[in-house]
Amino acid sequence: MTTTSPSKGIFDSANIEARERVVELLAKAYWMEMETAMSYTAASVNLDGVRAQEIKESLAEDVTEELGHAQRFAERIKELYGVVPGSEQFSPEQSYLQPPDEQTDIVHVIRGVIKAETGAIEHYTRIIEETEGVDPVTQDMMIEVLHDEQGHRRLFEGFLREYEVEGIAAGRVLDGGAAQ
Ligand SMILES: [Fe+2]
Ligand SMILES: [Fe+2]
Repeated sequence: MTTTSPSKGIFDSANIEARERVVELLAKAYWMEMETAMSYTAASVNLDGVRAQEIKESLAEDVTEELGHAQRFAERIKELYGVVPGSEQFSPEQSYLQPPDEQTDIVHVIRGVIKAETGAIEHYTRIIEETEGVDPVTQDMMIEVLHDEQGHRRLFEGFLREYEVEGIAAGRVLDGGAAQ
């Protein structure tokens, strides 16, 4: 007669490699959130002009939310017997979210935010796929955070659309003026 012990899922000794892999993916997600918090903090202060106000406020709110995501990922790394990396492990990737030459260049920031959120969406979708059937707790957390990021991206896509429509409208006014 064979006896089988109940599976402990991601904590099962047979799943050590899978667990280490999830910790690695979570560490990358953690750095993405930290860098996003840095970039959004800078943009929420740097931008100039009356039209920038709403974008600045929105980014300032997001900083808290993104830091909250980083903290959740850190907790999960620990639960999975990993170690939350130290600051010397950090290497920046958001070249597209550096301060623009002109601090009134709101579109530069909006496009950068959309790119950052898209990167997060892609990475978190990958974690959701890789944890399928292996680590439902990490998967659940990532689904919730993915929902937040989709909301962020949608909001900034709306901002970009507004600026694009206004750009076209402004162009028409100029054309009309030149024709007179
Ligand atoms: Fe986030
Ligand atoms: Fe976000």
